[in-house]
Amino acid sequence: MSDFLSFAQGLAREAGAILREGYGRVQHIQFKGAVDLVTEYDHRSEALILSRLRATYPAHRLYAEESGRDAEAGEYEWLIDPLDGTVNFAHAVPCFAVSLALTRRGQLQAGVVYDPLRDELFSAAAGGGAMLNGEPIRVSAEVQLERALLTTGFPYDVRTSPVNNFAEFMAFYKRAQAVRRPGSAALDCAYVACGRFDGYWEHKMKPYDIGAGALLVREAGGRVTTLAGEENFLGAADYLGAPSILASNGHIHAQMLAVLREVESRE
Ligand code: IPD
Ligand code: CA
Ligand code: CA
Repeated sequence: MSDFLSFAQGLAREAGAILREGYGRVQHIQFKGAVDLVTEYDHRSEALILSRLRATYPAHRLYAEESGRDAEAGEYEWLIDPLDGTVNFAHAVPCFAVSLALTRRGQLQAGVVYDPLRDELFSAAAGGGAMLNGEPIRVSAEVQLERALLTTGFPYDVRTSPVNNFAEFMAFYKRAQAVRRPGSAALDCAYVACGRFDGYWEHKMKPYDIGAGALLVREAGGRVTTLAGEENFLGAADYLGAPSILASNGHIHAQMLAVLREVESRE
């Protein structure tokens, strides 16, 4: 296992312990937008992650949800979501995770998603496969969209933006076995990687939401593209796009892209 991956695993566990302690004890909620919020535990988890990374890899660039992105470019960059699933966490719904990914010149090298309540540590290194608590995982073998269990999420600007995922949600609900909306993009991806879900799609993601999860899916044998089927789901090399994601077991990817094209052609 690479040093980077084992470091990220330890760090995700440490940050996850902060979230486990804070679960059900949130006292400070700030609204970043009408729907988008942040708690004191997002900040505590992020502060720990940033200080450990700066001490261990001072030359690496950091891009974290609550603090933004270092101005200085770097060969290596960490994509940090200290608490993915904040709305769940603030309501004491047990579905959230820490997500850490490392890129090198824009390419994913390592990714970790940690669910502290279930003590599930999902991890992947480029070319090294994906694991759950040290055991190899694989995507599901489902080939029919009609039998597939899908998952998705809705953007925070859902009240004002026409790109709100409602048409896509209805179309998939009529075509798949069912669609879930658990509320953590990192866990959505991790669950595709280990075969619990067969496919996941979402608009308007940030690199730190999906970096680690996308590597998990790829390394578990699945496929990850944008909703338009492009391979570069992280956006432009400097992530300046507004990435969307379609992550699946691979077998149902073309069927999911076809549904998305149908929806787009009707709009
Ligand atoms: C959010 C969650 C949610 C997804 C949103 C994300 P946050 O992340 O992953 O499931 O639908 O797009 O922004 O704000 O809880 O870190
Ligand atoms: Ca997130
Ligand atoms: Ca977050």
